[in-house]
Amino acid sequence: MKRMLSGIKPTGRVTLGNYIGAIKPFVQFQNEYEMIIFVANLHSMTIYQEPKDLRKNTKDLIALYIAAGLDPEQVTLFLQSDVLEHAQLGWYLGCMVSMGELSRMTQYKSKKLEAEEKGGHIGAGIFNYPSLMNADILMYDPDYVPVGEDQKQHVELARNVAERFNSRYSDTFKLPEPIIPKVGGRIMDLQDPTKKMSKSSPNGKGCIYVLDPINVSKKKILSAVTDSDSHVKFDPENKPGISNLLEIYSIISGKTIEELETMYEGKGYGDFKKDLAEVVGDELQRIQDRYNEVLDGDYLDNILEAGAEKARRIARKKLAKVERKIGITIKK
Ligand code: TYM
Repeated sequence: MKRMLSGIKPTGRVTLGNYIGAIKPFVQFQNEYEMIIFVANLHSMTIYQEPKDLRKNTKDLIALYIAAGLDPEQVTLFLQSDVLEHAQLGWYLGCMVSMGELSRMTQYKSKKLEAEEKGGHIGAGIFNYPSLMNADILMYDPDYVPVGEDQKQHVELARNVAERFNSRYSDTFKLPEPIIPKVGGRIMDLQDPTKKMSKSSPNGKGCIYVLDPINVSKKKILSAVTDSDSHVKFDPENKPGISNLLEIYSIISGKTIEELETMYEGKGYGDFKKDLAEVVGDELQRIQDRYNEVLDGDYLDNILEAGAEKARRIARKKLAKVERKIGITIKK
């Protein structure tokens, strides 16, 4: 069975973009692949987190993975900080990547710009972020890394670093391939469909949060920006608003974009948005009901403990192999 690995940061509340671009695909992949999924809480530290929010967001994310349908019996589910080997391998790999490569990462460039505009400083963690992500990935030799469009560059860097390591020290890491959903890999802001829907969206109306009250999410869809004509047609360049809504509709309903275009031929945006609000509302309601159940008792703690134990077994072996190869250990 081929192996897949991915993670999400517990920064802020989980968005519909995270759900469509990452969580929902994980659920669909779990029967076909061996899945390793974690909460990237070390990565979340690259931007200041209020400790009580970080704790809540971490718990919520684990609960949402399960509420969305990940089966903890089947999937290895853990907190990144529980497997210390990630940080250790991240250090070694950070020593094998150049400042130039790190400065070319678009996530770093945009965070740097954001910080400069606000007149604040940017931490060193955000610069070296990809080294830890390289470790997260390469540690487990996954065949595939399912992510949204914005993370593709990081997975490509992991591939380059793996190649570099393999050629310097002999074959050690598998070269991972990113998997980006053809539809839903980049869900856009509902108020400004030229920007990615993001947890840090300045305009709360443009971003749907999975745990928002259902009527709030429905309202956000009904007031999403579209264009001045009324044809429900997929054309991201000229009709970014309606095209984004079509992607959301397609992923949540399981219908293709063409089927949806045919369904709404001759109908206006009003009918389309009303139906979409219902479809999204029903899906989020189902997730929220299950979310409330799984938060009960120590169910989540037990899952994380078992998941970390499984992950550690793989990570320890890999790190020991790396340390033998690079000569840092004197053990044979
Ligand atoms: P993060 O937490 O920013 O996002 C988690 C996942 O959600 C996807 N995503 C989106 N997909 C579609 N439309 C959107 N608007 C949208 N916004 C976010 C992201 O692409 C991502 O797949 N660095 C990673 C976390 C990470 C990781 C890893 C991922 C750490 N180590 C190893 C894979 C493998 C991140 O910041 O994701």
